[in-house]
Amino acid sequence: MPLVNTKEMFKEAYAGGYAIGAFNVNNMEIIQGIVNAANKLRAPLILQVSAGARRYANQTYLVKLVEAALIESGLPIALHLDHGDSFELCKDCIDGGFTSVMIDGSHLPFEENIELTRRVVDYAHSHDPMVVVEAELGRLEGIEDDVVVSSDDASYTDPDEVEEFVTRTGCDSLAIAIGTSHGAYKFKPGQKPQLRFDILEEIERRLPGFPIVLHGASSVIPEYVETINRYGGSMPDAIGIPEHMLRKAAGMAVCKINIDSDLRLAMTASVRQYLGENPADFDPRKYLGPARKAIEEIVAHKITNVLGCDGKA
Ligand code: G3H
Ligand code: 13P
Ligand code: ZN
Repeated sequence: MPLVNTKEMFKEAYAGGYAIGAFNVNNMEIIQGIVNAANKLRAPLILQVSAGARRYANQTYLVKLVEAALIESGLPIALHLDHGDSFELCKDCIDGGFTSVMIDGSHLPFEENIELTRRVVDYAHSHDPMVVVEAELGRLEGIEDDVVVSSDDASYTDPDEVEEFVTRTGCDSLAIAIGTSHGAYKFKPGQKPQLRFDILEEIERRLPGFPIVLHGASSVIPEYVETINRYGGSMPDAIGIPEHMLRKAAGMAVCKINIDSDLRLAMTASVRQYLGENPADFDPRKYLGPARKAIEEIVAHKITNVLGCDGKA
């Protein structure tokens, strides 16, 4: 089966009350860990590549690794550009075989966000095979690549704007800001994690059947932070999004949930632990093998406990 776009996946996820996991990939072990978990659980999958991942690994290598994952698993897999920041970057990915792109104009004024998104949609939809486009309205706090959005600049999505935005851009899914944020430090120490389900409900009412995307949806599993710190790390206390809140969102209009930080933490905890316990080893396979297994375990956990997409492939 070739790479698929997310149209059918989202339609089924919306109707079935579950979400598809979108996991960030940067190298072979990460791709294999994710795909092994999805394959065992027969879960549809979105593998996403950021601009930083492209710079790190080279787009061609990542596309070929994802094609290998398709051959090995036979799963429905979409290859998605995460946080595209320009028409040119989106075009490059569409031309290079991606089946889905995000154009993130969330930092732009409303009209400029519409104009940029519309341009990407026109190009993506006229591509053969058709490529789908995720857009964003509202701003998440946190860090992506070199861009840091402080809590002062972050803002919830305004439900009054979503119908006009979706109609005028023709986008296929919409990322919204309801209190999630990128990275490991999503809430201040002592702060109680909260999501604005009232905003999500209102958006769902205004856009019936339309797929919504949640970014910044790692739960920041405390055991990983503890392991990292036990083996020489010095991470401050980190608070993520409680998994039951994500499960609730997946049962609503949210069809795609983005998870990266939890995979980074799992991998880093594993590598630190292995090298801490085996200080004389220097064969990368010895520590990358367990790291790949750690990715597989966290992704399997997300598929069954957060996304609910097991058995849907
Ligand atoms: O939202 C951003 C993702 O976690 C990707 O991070 O831009 O550092 O690759 P990155
Ligand atoms: P996390 O940092 O919460 O994993 O979010 C990842 C993300 O939104 C990628 O686009
Ligand atoms: Zn994101």
